[in-house]
Amino acid sequence: MSIAQERQAAVGDTIQYIRNLIAKDGVTRAALADVLSKVEHLAARAELWNETDYPPPEAGERQARYLIAEDADQTYALYLNVMRPGKRIPPHNHTTWACVAGVSGIEVNDVYVRTDDGSQPGVGTLEHSQTVEVGPRRGIALLPDDIHSVEIRGDDVIRHLHMYGRSLETLTERLAFDLETGRCQVMSVGVQTRR
Ligand SMILES: [Fe+2]
Repeated sequence: MSIAQERQAAVGDTIQYIRNLIAKDGVTRAALADVLSKVEHLAARAELWNETDYPPPEAGERQARYLIAEDADQTYALYLNVMRPGKRIPPHNHTTWACVAGVSGIEVNDVYVRTDDGSQPGVGTLEHSQTVEVGPRRGIALLPDDIHSVEIRGDDVIRHLHMYGRSLETLTERLAFDLETGRCQVMSVGVQTRR
């Protein structure tokens, strides 16, 4: 089998398992822990996520996001993110579940809890709860309302798999939070996904 065929088979098996699990158990912390372990195993097959098939972002850019798979109805979407040091994504929720696992390099995730009640439009205050260094064999699972930020430090380009309940392009209600001002607004999708 070629690498592309191996990748297609491994991705297909992984997502089928996840579909069945979520259909059976729903979106719970326990189910997502199981989903995450599957995504971690897929990420551990580094040969499937190589630089030839998925080059780093061009000079001057800090993120290349590749769509690996999504269902026809834009659910169960898997992306490979290749990011350079200096890339920062502000605190945000997803409005769907998310699991992130490292192929290579560390993605520093800070997790926050919301301290306001969400009743005032544009207001969103956060308190830091924990830092998770997401890398090979150590991922993070997030429920739809969980809030995290991402930062790439160090010197190396990182490769991480990001699996979501729905395609990023459909997430028009997710919020980005400004820690300094205590404000929030609808988050843009960021860089264009490469297909
Ligand atoms: Fe995120």
